Amino acid sequence: MSNSEELYLRQNVQVEPLIDQWYAWPHLIPPATAARNITERHLKIMDSYINAPQIHANAVKNPKMLGGPFIDYGGKRVDEIRALRDRIKRERSDLIELSAALGALDNMLRETARGYSLQPLYEKVPDILRGYVELTYDLNNHPSFRLIEPLLYRSSYYDRSQQSVMLTTISSDDRPFVLSTPRLESDDSLHLHLPFESPVIDDLFRLKSAPRPWHEIKEMLAIQDSQDGLLRSFLTSERPPAYSAYTGSGVRWRYFGHACILIESQGVTMLFDPVLSYTYENGISRYTYLDLPDSIDYVLITHNHQDHILFETLLQIRHKVKNIVVPRNSGGRLQDPSLKLLFQNCGFNNIIEINELEEIQAGDVHITGLPFFGEHADLDIQSKMAWLVRIGLHSLLFAADSCNIEPRLYQHLHRVFGDVDALFLGMECDGAPLSWLYGPLLTQKFERAMDESRRLAGSNYEQGMHIINCFNCREAYVYAMGQEPWLNYIMSVKYTEQSKPIVESNRLLKACEENGIIAERLFGEKEILLQQKPVRSSAVSVPVPV
Ligand SMILES: [Fe+2]
Ligand SMILES: [Fe+2]
Repeated sequence: MSNSEELYLRQNVQVEPLIDQWYAWPHLIPPATAARNITERHLKIMDSYINAPQIHANAVKNPKMLGGPFIDYGGKRVDEIRALRDRIKRERSDLIELSAALGALDNMLRETARGYSLQPLYEKVPDILRGYVELTYDLNNHPSFRLIEPLLYRSSYYDRSQQSVMLTTISSDDRPFVLSTPRLESDDSLHLHLPFESPVIDDLFRLKSAPRPWHEIKEMLAIQDSQDGLLRSFLTSERPPAYSAYTGSGVRWRYFGHACILIESQGVTMLFDPVLSYTYENGISRYTYLDLPDSIDYVLITHNHQDHILFETLLQIRHKVKNIVVPRNSGGRLQDPSLKLLFQNCGFNNIIEINELEEIQAGDVHITGLPFFGEHADLDIQSKMAWLVRIGLHSLLFAADSCNIEPRLYQHLHRVFGDVDALFLGMECDGAPLSWLYGPLLTQKFERAMDESRRLAGSNYEQGMHIINCFNCREAYVYAMGQEPWLNYIMSVKYTEQSKPIVESNRLLKACEENGIIAERLFGEKEILLQQKPVRSSAVSVPVPV
């Protein structure tokens, strides 16, 4: 490798974004949710591992414990976990205090606020939270608070120095589960202490398609000589294949796995819930980074779950993205951090917030936000939206994990928007209990039966069929099921033929087939071309599987 040789970043270099060496899923970024997760998830898991590593090693091997709070290092590396825990306790003491203060505030309101003026209670707000919260009642005198999130991001509680990215080579789909296993350094990992907003991250990923000489890359990443060999192992002089954009007159959509779908039509590109596999041979054919256009007009986010907002993918494509479209939510609720602020504070520009029934238009393309009910354990969370895409006379509805808990919603939507050609619907209808994701935010003990009853569940057979029938869909695609093995590290689901999501979605596919509706549970990859529709009538849009 000569010094002047032009080098690319290999397509199978895994880049995990980390905060305190824990995988940066969205709740680890806003200061308040990060604080609660540090004390109520990370420190507890690490303490438990240090005390009984073998219990964790056994639990990780037990399929019934999948997704549980167990560190996946085979009972080893206890000293490193201890060192990480001690460092977090030392360097994150302010967030640890913030977490306690949020708990104390909740308690104070519960015990003191009785429907009388909240004004005298401001001086009882824990000192470090004063000025960052407004106290409120709902109309039934239930007290609560809202966080002034933009101020918290502009305080020492948002500490970019704890953000980093870790590079390793990936050649299989197996990775430890992100919510329970922190990432430790190893001889084959390059740990770059860069905040997510750093333009160096964009330059790094531009190397996937635009090469640069060795000395520039080394300088850009500020690598020491001792790491030359490792960095060189991530680079190649081999030019990746060029992307060929869709130039037809209709619509092309491609399924990349889970809820990630790329639409190209009339020069407009849209990417929903970006989640990419890296490029390596591992049995199942899949679209990857190489199958993305150089520029993406709109990235659209359906909701704030870690399988739908994946910074690992979003950081890779940030330099390609013109606009990122998110559901509007700025209520300051602990459980519902603002998505706009989340992305802004991670270096994304041109964030468009959309309210329910608001629309974006680009030429012949109309994108409308539709209400997304359910799948959030009945918490007051606004950061969820289904996206209705109308291109000419085609219409596609990306409902993600929407749970049809109120069929009347879709009757109203049909009255306003009419028929929909194709529905994309998640049917993960088992769903984890509330505490699995939101437990660290709760400050009171929660009855197990309540927890079990409030689940992160998507639509079942009846709920799904109702949406299909309501919109007179001609095509129905079950997606967002977490079935692709390269998603195990964020989803932690493994289905059998008896699993409820499979049983229910099989029923839905069968019923569709019996009713002449094209239907499929998407897996791996899929491409469909929709020919230009001449007129809106009962004329069938013709999906052409490729
Ligand atoms: Fe979800
Ligand atoms: Fe999901």
